[in-house]
Amino acid sequence: MSGPTALKASLLDPHVCVIGAGTMGRGIAQIAVAAGHAVSLVDPDAGQLQAAVADIRSRLNRKHPELATDLETRLLCAKSIDAVPAAADTLVVEAVVEDLAVKATVFAQAWDHFGPGCLLATNTSSLSITEIAAATADPTRVVGLHFFNPVPVMRLVEVIRGLDTDQEVVARVAALARSWGKEVAHVRSAPGFIVNRVARPFYGESLRLLEEQTASAEIIDEVLRGAGQFRMGPFELMDLIGNDVNFTVTSTVWRAFNFDARYAPSQLQAELVAAGRLGRKSGRGFYRYDLDADRPQP
Ligand code: NAI
Repeated sequence: MSGPTALKASLLDPHVCVIGAGTMGRGIAQIAVAAGHAVSLVDPDAGQLQAAVADIRSRLNRKHPELATDLETRLLCAKSIDAVPAAADTLVVEAVVEDLAVKATVFAQAWDHFGPGCLLATNTSSLSITEIAAATADPTRVVGLHFFNPVPVMRLVEVIRGLDTDQEVVARVAALARSWGKEVAHVRSAPGFIVNRVARPFYGESLRLLEEQTASAEIIDEVLRGAGQFRMGPFELMDLIGNDVNFTVTSTVWRAFNFDARYAPSQLQAELVAAGRLGRKSGRGFYRYDLDADRPQP
């Protein structure tokens, strides 16, 4: 094949290597499989990989049973990037913990493994794309690709350019996201980008209301869902996102804005994180999660 169609096909068909098999990584791997890519999913935690495959299979079963039955031919799981075939045309999407040093290490390993043909996309919620890129061998190949939770359901993706990101890299990643059924918002790297910047007061004021004992988490959630017409209240949403993730994002935005009191993290949330009450993923956060219950339990 030659001409524009061939170009389009190859531009939209890289091998996708998702690093981190947690809440976000497994969702990203799922939509890449559903879009027909060869996908690898890397996580040093075998338990996470196992849980990710079970989740992906059961979710694909609902809409694409044909993809679920032979999932292992489409999705390669590995505890280390070294076990993944080193396809030159690879889109790496990292969804590991929200820690700049860990993300930089992951990108360095990916660059060594896949070589300069690869693109390095980060799902960071709040870290500077420019700073993550600066720690890599080629900052022009690094771009933010910020999905929302749950990835297969949420249509929006923020495509974020750092100071050095190549415009062609931005365009290619945005085209891929669109081919996966997503709507793309183009953003310049800045603390919290668009959504996590605007969402900080939503969580922060709700946490302050709770700390001041103005109302319970259930009442605040109910009011925002009911009168406010939000899809989810702030506390059930924090439990879905993960209190550890949400707390880290707030802390990063707060630091980036020179400790502006508007973004100050909540002590209550810090306590929940310290106690391992991370939300749905740990079975308890602001609410308790019984796997058989439709709604969270207070
Ligand atoms: P998570 O805690 O559910 O999963 C993180 C995974 O990364 C774990 O499975 C862990 O074993 C793995 N991991 C840690 N170090 C690794 C390494 N060196 N190599 C490979 N895997 C490694 O976290 P979650 O919620 O999936 O977040 C991941 C990223 O996505 C973070 O940057 C977060 O800020 C961002 N994000 C999270 C959202 C959410 O709602 N949870 C929404 C949008 C972005």
